[in-house]
Amino acid sequence: MPSQSENTLQGNAIPWEDWEQASEFIGHDPCHAHIGGEAFSEKIAKDVKTPVLDIGCGWGGLIAKLPEGKVVGVDISEYSIKKAKEHVNRSDVTLIESDILNLDSSKIGTFATVLSIDVLPLVEKKEEVLQKARSSLQDSGRFIFTDYFAPSSFGSILTPYGGAVPEPEETYREIISQHFDRYNIRDRTDACIAETEEIIEELKANDELEEWIVEKWGQDYYDHTVDLSHRWISALQSGDIKYVLVEASLLNQY
Ligand SMILES: C[S@@+](CC[C@H](N)C(=O)[O-])C[C@H]1O[C@@H](n2cnc3c(N)ncnc32)[C@H](O)[C@@H]1O
Repeated sequence: MPSQSENTLQGNAIPWEDWEQASEFIGHDPCHAHIGGEAFSEKIAKDVKTPVLDIGCGWGGLIAKLPEGKVVGVDISEYSIKKAKEHVNRSDVTLIESDILNLDSSKIGTFATVLSIDVLPLVEKKEEVLQKARSSLQDSGRFIFTDYFAPSSFGSILTPYGGAVPEPEETYREIISQHFDRYNIRDRTDACIAETEEIIEELKANDELEEWIVEKWGQDYYDHTVDLSHRWISALQSGDIKYVLVEASLLNQY
């Protein structure tokens, strides 16, 4: 994982490298580091065909639930891959530490399903990841991913990585339709609101969490995190930001 705390401190929530500790505070399982946690992993996994490529597999919680068959998990973070190796004990799973955009596709083959859950919000070159997913798909394969639609002005609200800027819905739909023959979008903003509300409650009620943030980054950063969470939830509630699950597929390969 690139360590970009400087960007983070300019205006964002908990840096990814501290997410393990943060997850403990807010009672989330870092093996399922996405909206909906383990229950959502189960939902996705039961409807997936192998072979599977999981882009940004994190600690491998979703991979552990996938049906038997070839699975490749790729993550840019050395620590995540180490944790995934501890967590996933299957001989049909290969775990690779790499930026997905630097991975030589010819070495991993093509897949019936490409997954990428809560990774695109962190990625600066979204369209390139979409292209990579497309070129990794078999005929009639499916790319299942999550991301946010948001006016570009929300930039830094979304991610610890300063460079990743969200796309407005119309632009994002256009990008998807340039690379895939069909796609389907499910709005999961309600789930995102529920989880963000939980986090705000923890921020308000958990003195230890407050102390941890203040000790690590200072009072201003804590105040900023609280303020950011409020702006974030208002934007979700007003519909300015949407959290979506996208399923995109091809009629034919390139
Ligand atoms: C929010 S976590 C989600 C992890 C996992 N998909 C899950 O749902 O539990 C985002 C993950 O994306 C990884 N990631 C971010 N940019 C990446 C990239 N360019 N290539 C591969 N992995 C990336 C991060 O290291 C992190 O493990």
